Amino acid sequence: MQSLKEFWESRYRKMDIRESGNIGYSVRYNYWYYRAKERALLKAIKRHGIVIKGKKIADIGSGTGFIVDFLLRREPASILGVDISQKSVDYLKGKYSGHKNVNFQCLDITRSKPQGGSVYDLVDVYDVMCLIVQDEDFLQAMKHICSMVAKPGLILLVDMFPEKTVRLGDYIVSRPREDYLQILTSNAFEILEIVPQFYLFNRNISNRIIRRMVNLFPVVIYVIDGIALSLNIFGDGNKSGASFKLLVAKRK
Ligand SMILES: C[S@@+](CC[C@H](N)C(=O)[O-])C[C@H]1O[C@@H](n2cnc3c(N)ncnc32)[C@H](O)[C@@H]1O
Repeated sequence: MQSLKEFWESRYRKMDIRESGNIGYSVRYNYWYYRAKERALLKAIKRHGIVIKGKKIADIGSGTGFIVDFLLRREPASILGVDISQKSVDYLKGKYSGHKNVNFQCLDITRSKPQGGSVYDLVDVYDVMCLIVQDEDFLQAMKHICSMVAKPGLILLVDMFPEKTVRLGDYIVSRPREDYLQILTSNAFEILEIVPQFYLFNRNISNRIIRRMVNLFPVVIYVIDGIALSLNIFGDGNKSGASFKLLVAKRK
């Protein structure tokens, strides 16, 4: 079995959004998938009055830069992106070379924190924790992340938060809200909310015809998901039927 680093180095080839998003679907699908993530993020920002402008931000597992793009449009003071993949870091350094306030470091968050020991107003962790399979590594990564947050400061973290730990293959383990709650509470954080991101994206579709339709017309999923979210059809918060959710935690 490949190490986590080897896995990501071999997954990144073209550095397109499929590779950091859902590689089983088209670029078009992933475009709308990321738009759905953005919609949930905007909702959380609005609901909790989160300010990006002028803030110091760390992005854990930057991938192809979806969050960096989102944040830059909102004029933060600085962004530090970290990723276990050297390919990702090299790509991102090139992509954002014109931005003096954006830096990247290649590191494994289960092993170390960014150099310099700075603290950040906001640390976001998008689709990374569920890739950390070993429980000790998970704990260590959470400790590093918590210690990077200023007082007061925020963590925005995306995972599935199932009722019980779910192991999906060799490289994906999703842990319940209670596991996060325990670690966050013991590090002086409170969970403000868990916002559903989407219901229909990121599902395994085995039917070839439906899969083809979804790859061709993902905007339909985006619209249906948006309606379901605004009507609260599948429920709100952690107990909703959403496949992935955004946890907002505040350091007290
Ligand atoms: C599913 S991608 C998500 C990328 C980005 N956050 C997004 O939402 O588009 C996960 C990213 O986390 C990185 N990663 C995985 N494990 C990591 C670790 N232990 N430390 C730092 N980065 C990690 C991977 O290299 C990959 O770029």
